[in-house]
Amino acid sequence: MESVASAPGKTILFGEHSVVYSEPAIAGAVNKRATVKIRRSRNQNTILKSKDLNFEAILDTRKESYSLKHGKPGIIRYILNALSKFHDHTPIEILLSINIPIGSGLGSSAAVTVATLAALFDYHDIPFTKESLAQDAYNVELDVQGMASPLDTIVSTYGGLIYLSREKKPISFTNHINSNFVIGFTTKYGNTGKMVKNVKNLKDAYPNIINPIIEDMGFIANEARIAILKNDISKVGELMNINQGLLDSLGVNTSELSRMIYLARKNGALGSKITGSGGGGSIIALCPHNPDKVMKAINRYDNTLKIKFSKDGVLTKD
Ligand code: MEV
Repeated sequence: MESVASAPGKTILFGEHSVVYSEPAIAGAVNKRATVKIRRSRNQNTILKSKDLNFEAILDTRKESYSLKHGKPGIIRYILNALSKFHDHTPIEILLSINIPIGSGLGSSAAVTVATLAALFDYHDIPFTKESLAQDAYNVELDVQGMASPLDTIVSTYGGLIYLSREKKPISFTNHINSNFVIGFTTKYGNTGKMVKNVKNLKDAYPNIINPIIEDMGFIANEARIAILKNDISKVGELMNINQGLLDSLGVNTSELSRMIYLARKNGALGSKITGSGGGGSIIALCPHNPDKVMKAINRYDNTLKIKFSKDGVLTKD
């Protein structure tokens, strides 16, 4: 028997970092996915392979350790943690295909975690709901990263464009933003755990300054929710730019991100900001009229991608 599940990456429009402190946020699933296949192993080893990431490893699910045949994937820690929680240690083969760029701020770790858990539950006939899956995936992210919000795993599980309320309730938008978004990748991997910790340190050192900034990010997400419901694209762009200023003040910006953000605006983007944890990773630019011009301008330095929001969340099939 073979179990297969896939889950999408995500992009955050509003609320990265502030969502860790329970402020509302808005994020959408993108049309890039991680797919995990699980089947019984042909020998006594549990093997994890990914052609896309060019690695192969033998996993020890009891000790939560692994030995690599080749490659150096950070993503293994998420898979091992998921297996240690829900697998009975019988030898299996896990095949991972993924077209979400790793460390790009597009939620590759959440997508891999959600797809691994869904394939594993299917393999063991463990019943699950989207709610329970998102929660289990969040627990894996928490274990691996130390501090995290449930945003990435919720979006990867449910799909679509989601407003995550202060009470951590995912609310799907009935309309999508009918516009083009461009993602620009920097040359540096974003380390989410490290960036979340840096923000916490700043917040602990300057609570009177940082707490209102984080709260303001929540106000922005709420304004943006109304603007999206009214399809007021220029307001969405303006709010993205304000959000970027606040992200910069939290210390998660870099000169490379900043340069791309301003290049996007100069070339017609209505709004542009970091998406994800920053410190590297990516920017997102709202480009209703001229995505190619923005892509070309950014591409002098970096890679770009036109994205579409995807309504599909986690999908399983036997
Ligand atoms: C990372 O994609 C988003 C952060 O807000 C961290 C989190 O929500 O877990 C930076």
